Amino acid sequence: MNSLDRLVGNLQEQLGDSVSRDLSISDFTTYRLGGPVAAAVRVGSESDLATVARVLNDYPDTVPLLIIGRGSNLLVADSGFAGLGIILEGEFAEVVIESDQIVAAGAAVPLPVVARQSAAAGLTGLEFLVGIPGSIGGAVRMNAGGHGSEISTVLEQVRVMNMFDGSISNFAADNLNFSYRASRLTTDEVVIQARLRVRVDVVEKCRERIDEIVQWRRENQPGGANAGSTFKNPPGDSAGRLIDEAGLKGTRIGGAVVSEKHANFLQAEDGATARDVYELMNLIRKRVSEVSGVVLESELHTVGFDATEK
Ligand code: EPU
Repeated sequence: MNSLDRLVGNLQEQLGDSVSRDLSISDFTTYRLGGPVAAAVRVGSESDLATVARVLNDYPDTVPLLIIGRGSNLLVADSGFAGLGIILEGEFAEVVIESDQIVAAGAAVPLPVVARQSAAAGLTGLEFLVGIPGSIGGAVRMNAGGHGSEISTVLEQVRVMNMFDGSISNFAADNLNFSYRASRLTTDEVVIQARLRVRVDVVEKCRERIDEIVQWRRENQPGGANAGSTFKNPPGDSAGRLIDEAGLKGTRIGGAVVSEKHANFLQAEDGATARDVYELMNLIRKRVSEVSGVVLESELHTVGFDATEK
């Protein structure tokens, strides 16, 4: 019996049916691509997540972890992921309006849901989140942003579980070393909840701002199977502009194609593989660096690919 089999056995003893083998990751990513995740556990409460951490403690360094949120920034290889996927649901998917100054949202809550619920309650400050695909957990970890703001600017406090020992910490936003699309959180620290700052405003005005952003997205970003922005914007420039300038709109590898509407969006058409998307990313990086000298950095989280294949 290998260590993953033993881990799954131990998790099943503690958490029963919420543990499964060979989870089809394509059901959990906006790309709808990728091979199986060897083992997965659905977790709905802090105490169950602490149980997972305790069980994992018996397998130090042997089982890689993948926290599965909205899967809107995730590309898993066609060969899959040989570790444990953790799917947060239940209490992690709840929004609580704590006061007219703070909205608390669980890690699994989609950003547009936080935006709309806050606006409907006459609370302003979070409207920009309606334009960002993703969930609170991933957004905090990578300081997601758009429309002139980023999550660190509205974050009061984040609640995190350390997966080494199940301990919980509450960090003030100032302690997370936020920068453009980055924080100091490690992969062993799972974001559980974020407390976000809001202000009172007229509901109608909040809704108007939401509608404007939704309309801007419809006009400027494509629908279909994609993962939002593929590359981070380099300092002072835009990845979309650079890819466009390199003449790459419409470039295709297999079923993966550079969007004609926004060059930093890569669409997966019917029959696409994760490998197609990955190779298209590599081609873009190479061509943009040849044309403009800028080496683009991935915003998309790629999992299970061999880094030497770049
Ligand atoms: N541009 C082009 N050609 C293109 C695309 C864009 O020339 O094909 C130019 C635009 O004309 C504009 C500039 O590039 O002058 C910037 O483009 P855009 O306004 O679309 O913003 P972005 O920097 O590409 C960022 C976020 C998006 C967010 C928008 C809205 C990053 C990497 N992306 O996009 O976030 O929705 O701003 O403010 O910061 C995401 O992170 O997944 C995401 C969708």
